[in-house]
Formats: sequence, structure tokens, C-alpha cells
Amino acid sequence: MLPSTTERLLLGNTDIAISPLGIGTWAWGDKWMWGYGKSHTDADIRAAFDAALAAGINFFDTAEVYGLGRSERLLGQLIRESGQSVVVASKFMPFPFWLTRHALCRELRGSLKRLGMTQVDLYQMHFPLPPVPIETWMDAMADAVEARLVRAVGVSNYNQAQMERAHRALARRGIRLASNQVFYSLLHRDPEFNGVAQLCKDLNVTLIAYSPLEKGILTGKYTPDNPPPGMRKRIYNREYLQKTQPLLEIMHDIGEAHGGKTAAQVALNWLICKGAVPIPGAKNQRQVVSNIGALGWRLTDDEVAILDELSLAVRKS
Ligand SMILES: NC(=O)c1ccc[n+]([C@@H]2O[C@H](COP(=O)([O-])OP(=O)(O)OC[C@H]3O[C@@H](n4cnc5c(N)ncnc54)[C@H](OP(=O)(O)O)[C@@H]3O)[C@@H](O)[C@H]2O)c1
Repeated sequence: MLPSTTERLLLGNTDIAISPLGIGTWAWGDKWMWGYGKSHTDADIRAAFDAALAAGINFFDTAEVYGLGRSERLLGQLIRESGQSVVVASKFMPFPFWLTRHALCRELRGSLKRLGMTQVDLYQMHFPLPPVPIETWMDAMADAVEARLVRAVGVSNYNQAQMERAHRALARRGIRLASNQVFYSLLHRDPEFNGVAQLCKDLNVTLIAYSPLEKGILTGKYTPDNPPPGMRKRIYNREYLQKTQPLLEIMHDIGEAHGGKTAAQVALNWLICKGAVPIPGAKNQRQVVSNIGALGWRLTDDEVAILDELSLAVRKS
């Protein structure tokens, strides 16, 4: 029987109920990093989406820049055809040449058009880029909430101080910051050490973990002799892949002790144990089904401690 979940968490202080694991859709339309059209096609993406819904996953993350809008278009089409209600998170990229707050509403309307929706559940600032101050963007977000174009406001790649500013600016408009989406995996543990994870707990802001499989490295399928393709080969070179092997071996052993869980499932479960909502990217049905196997069981405290210790030696940040 395929794994599935009925579990739901509330996104931040909102009444938006999400599955404890979402699906990242950067690869749905992106050729540059993810080889869309070569490693996976629209048929693979459709099968991935259907498998996620069938397994009870209701949370999908996209962005206006993914595949230059193709990810939003594909996701919107699949949702419409499914007839089901899902929670959609998208993102606004505050390019430095967008100099006024009006850019946010204009780009948001573009996202809604591509998604074929009148409202997006979660709208996130993609990066804290200058020159427009965080407070100005948060005012634009608040306007979008008041116009009922957005249900909840999130940020992404915001550090502790930036998150505090966003939280305060939204609070002035009577809105709670719902989420911060940051790079978080066994090999990227910054949120634990830079105050972001703690602030998320303190403010009841959902910490959404992106690249939770370290772009495929934590699945264990890439080794020094079988490096990842394309751009990823530059980020994860042979020496680094060599260094990660002892951690991957322990992840494999821990997974075995849980009835044959994979390294990827252990990596995602570790994030869930840390209180995060991972959004692994998936190119096909097999990857979705595999990643859902991270749900319905839990690493022990001792296993989390072992992974914490071993990962410190190889973490990239
Ligand atoms: N806010 C931001 O700035 C930001 C940045 C990055 C990502 N994100 C979001 O986070 C999502 C996830 O991050 P990500 O896509 O960068 O990395 P990821 O989730 O760590 O890795 C995804 C990749 O790993 C491989 N994979 C996934 N599941 C697998 C499985 N079970 N078995 C074997 N291989 C598997 C696939 O690539 P291959 O098959 O090609 O190896 C897949 O595309 C994105 O889709 C996006 O929504 C946000």
C-alpha cells in the first residue's frame, strides 16, 4: 500500500491547514538548474502531482520566477483539472529595479493569472533584496491581504533581524507573519544557529525548509563517482561528495532500523523532528511517493542527536 497522510498543521497563526510536508515545484518548468524537458516532462509532473494529492499532500510551493512562470502555469492547470482544493504558496521576487511597492501588486496579479486563481493562500517575499525597505514591501503585502488577493503573508531567506522587521511592519497593519522559507537540511543548518528557528518558534511562524534533500545529495544517489548533473556538479564537487559519505551511511543504517526507510526519508523526517515543514522538489511520481514515506513515523531523540553531531562535520553552512 502507498504511504499517505491525513495529518494537518496550521500555517503560522492562520487557519490554513497544510500537510506536514509540501511539494516544491521549482523543477516544474525549469531547464537551467533542473533539466525540465530532458530529465522530466509534463507527463511526469502530472503523475507527481496526482500521486501527491492521492497521498493526502495539499501544500505546493511555487514562485513567479520558476521556469519563468511555467511552474505557476503547470500547477494552476493541474489544480483546476483535479477539482481539488489545495494550499498554494507563491513568491514575489523584489528585483532591485522594482523601485515602488506597486510592483508587488502587479507581479501578484501576474502570478494569479498564471495560476488561474483569484487568491493565493500564501504569498512570500522571495529574497530580502535592496533597495526597497522591508517595511514598504510589507505594506504592499498588507494591501494585497486587504484586497483579498492573498490569504497569508510569508517571507523567504530572511534572517532574524529582517524577520523581526517584517513581523513588526505587518503587525502595524493587524496581520501576522505566517512563515519564513529558508534553506534548511542536514547539510545546511544555519536556521538552528542564526536565531531564525528560535524566532519562528517564539512568534509561531512556520519554518518552511527548502532544498531539504540538499538538491538530491541527501538521497545518497550521488557519489564521488556519480556526481549530480549540470549546475549541481559545481556546487557539490567530488571532495564534498566524498565528505558526505559517512553521514549518508549512518542515515542508511538509521533508516534500516525503521523498517527500510531511505536516506531521503531520514533527511526529511529529521527536519520534521526539528519542527520544520520540508518542501522537497519532485520531478516524478516515484520521487513523490518516496518522499511521502518520510511521514507516519519518527526518528528517536537519540537518532536525531547522532545525525546532529555527524552532520556538523560536513555541513556547508
Ligand atoms: N525560497 C527559495 O529561495 C528557494 C530556493 C530553493 C528551493 N526552493 C523551494 O524548495 C523546493 C525544494 O528545493 P530544491 O528543489 O532546491 O531541492 P531538494 O528538494 O533538496 O531536491 C530536489 C531534487 O532532488 C531529487 N529528488 C527528490 N526526491 C527524490 C527521491 N525521493 N529520490 C531521488 N531523488 C530525489 C530530484 O532531482 P534529481 O532527480 O535531478 O536528482 C529533485 O528535483 C523547490 O522546488 C522550491 O519550491 C525555494
